[in-house]
Amino acid sequence: MRGQFVRALRDLMHGRGFDPAGKVVVVTGGAGGIGSALADRLARAGASIAVVDRDAPRARAVVAGLPVRAGARHHAFVADLTDPAQVSEVADDVGSTYEVVDVLVNNAAMTSAERFATRSMASIEEELTVNLTSPLFVTRAVIPLLRRAPDPRIITTVSLAALMPQAETPVYCASKFGLRGAMMSIALDLAPGIAVSSVLPSATDTRMLRQEAIDGGNALQFQTPPQTPADVVDAVFSLLDRPRLEAYPKPREARLVRAATVFPNLLPALMVFFQGKGERGQREYLDDLLERGHVVRVDGRLELAP
Ligand SMILES: NC(=O)c1ccc[n+]([C@@H]2O[C@H](COP(=O)([O-])OP(=O)(O)OC[C@H]3O[C@@H](n4cnc5c(N)ncnc54)[C@H](O)[C@@H]3O)[C@@H](O)[C@H]2O)c1
Repeated sequence: MRGQFVRALRDLMHGRGFDPAGKVVVVTGGAGGIGSALADRLARAGASIAVVDRDAPRARAVVAGLPVRAGARHHAFVADLTDPAQVSEVADDVGSTYEVVDVLVNNAAMTSAERFATRSMASIEEELTVNLTSPLFVTRAVIPLLRRAPDPRIITTVSLAALMPQAETPVYCASKFGLRGAMMSIALDLAPGIAVSSVLPSATDTRMLRQEAIDGGNALQFQTPPQTPADVVDAVFSLLDRPRLEAYPKPREARLVRAATVFPNLLPALMVFFQGKGERGQREYLDDLLERGHVVRVDGRLELAP
């Protein structure tokens, strides 16, 4: 028991180091903004990447663009991770392709800016399933493959929305609050054999955020301009190097959010200080997206460029 305590403290303070060369990394949502940036950086460092995504054309395009270092093998696995049968099938396919998984990155998710009061029950259930149930299905299915690796890791892309309520996206918040608790619990359960970590990004410039901004989603998250996927990838690499329960790509913002939620009853009053600045930030972001061609105007409406 004392050995386990000392090892946990040593890992926390000094890290274990992580060399991606020769490792097998599964990235769910690997066709998306953060997932593809992570896949690219890991592949550059010599890892083999299994991109798992329901978007077949994008998943295959990401895999085709990954650099291949000595002996690395990248593959696209197309699956809807809300379906347990497809999750088991992908785990079997990954197992027969690679035999082992060194790192599982649970990263696939969705968000919707549909207002809660008018949303269909089916769309509420779908978002919870994609964001909360599916990463649990995937984690459960991949554990046997991780246990074949010498120093296995699980990293989950959660969100600062796991710490802070967001009026416009309550279902997303529910899923990420739940996912954070689940991953912390799984971390304690699987220690010390598998190191389980979460990264909690705030607004990040990907198709998910661009669509949310077009649809008038959460404005509070635009206090400062969105970070890039590369910023989130840096935080994931820091977790690989020094496994711990959580990392925040923007630590100052995370501290502010945690401070604001110490007294939740004050939140409705505190929100007024941030709402106006957030709304201005969201408008500036949309202008910037138009300028960069990521968003186009069609018949007077804004749409994501293909
Ligand atoms: N972009 C942000 O501002 C932001 C902020 C905090 C956290 N996050 C989190 O980061 C992660 C990555 O998001 P992103 O911003 O790169 O978004 P993205 O939309 O670019 O990528 C998400 C990917 O998940 C895939 N996916 C969705 N549902 C799936 C399903 N049922 N089965 C298989 N694949 C599915 C999509 O096809 C897409 O390729 C998500 O977990 C998201 O919640 C994003």
